[in-house]
Amino acid sequence: MATLYGISIGTGDPELITLKGLRLLREASAIAFPAGINGKPGIAQQIIEPWLAYQQPTLALEFPYVSDRNILVQAWQKAADRVWQYLKNGHDVAFACEGDISFYSTFTYLAQTLQEKHPDVKIEVVPGVTSPCAAAATLGIPLTVRGQRLAILPALYSIDELDSILAWADTIVLLKVASIYKKVWQMLKAKNLLESSWLVERATFPEQKIYHLRDRPSLELSYFSILIVQINRSSPP
Ligand SMILES: C[S@@+](CC[C@H](N)C(=O)[O-])C[C@H]1O[C@@H](n2cnc3c(N)ncnc32)[C@H](O)[C@@H]1O
Repeated sequence: MATLYGISIGTGDPELITLKGLRLLREASAIAFPAGINGKPGIAQQIIEPWLAYQQPTLALEFPYVSDRNILVQAWQKAADRVWQYLKNGHDVAFACEGDISFYSTFTYLAQTLQEKHPDVKIEVVPGVTSPCAAAATLGIPLTVRGQRLAILPALYSIDELDSILAWADTIVLLKVASIYKKVWQMLKAKNLLESSWLVERATFPEQKIYHLRDRPSLELSYFSILIVQINRSSPP
């Protein structure tokens, strides 16, 4: 029986893939990844492009950006069926995931759908570099030390949510921050936290940008933006 490999490819710099991930990517009969928008190559496809030296079939799988569960389930089923065509004929498939594959990844839905339809399917996951770790490295700061408490919010739907987390966390990481950035900035200003807040856009890509929040009340940000707030900065042990 062939295997579906879920491969973490890192956050932008192609060299952030692990040796194991790279080997499995190169050995697979087909490479899958989330399709880009409007026919453009998706982010994962762009990252692995230097590693796809020879002719491997590619599967650009559609995972629409909608909240309607029926549409999503249909998309997961379709993606699972496409991957299964390879697996059932004994061909391994490597699914390339931006960042780490277990960290807010569409791969989870693909794997669950395949397992429901084909309980014997073989799936293996290769871990990798997440965006909070990549952003901390870019900023040259530790994400956490000693007993510090870290809060990671995948998306912020109300500003009150942030208020309650500010009360207990030492470091906060906000993903998908673009749409709510202005409100977050106002809250961080009110709490006197702008001095220890940074935003990293497209971390580890050649065009990566770092913004110190101090003088940035508004920013036009891409989807690949992450905000780090150090509430209690560490002092040396
Ligand atoms: C669906 S999550 C995917 C997370 C990904 N699997 C990971 O390991 O980081 C997408 C969010 O992760 C963050 N993100 C992922 N890659 C990023 C990068 N290279 N630079 C900045 N933020 C990134 C952004 O906040 C983005 O909205």
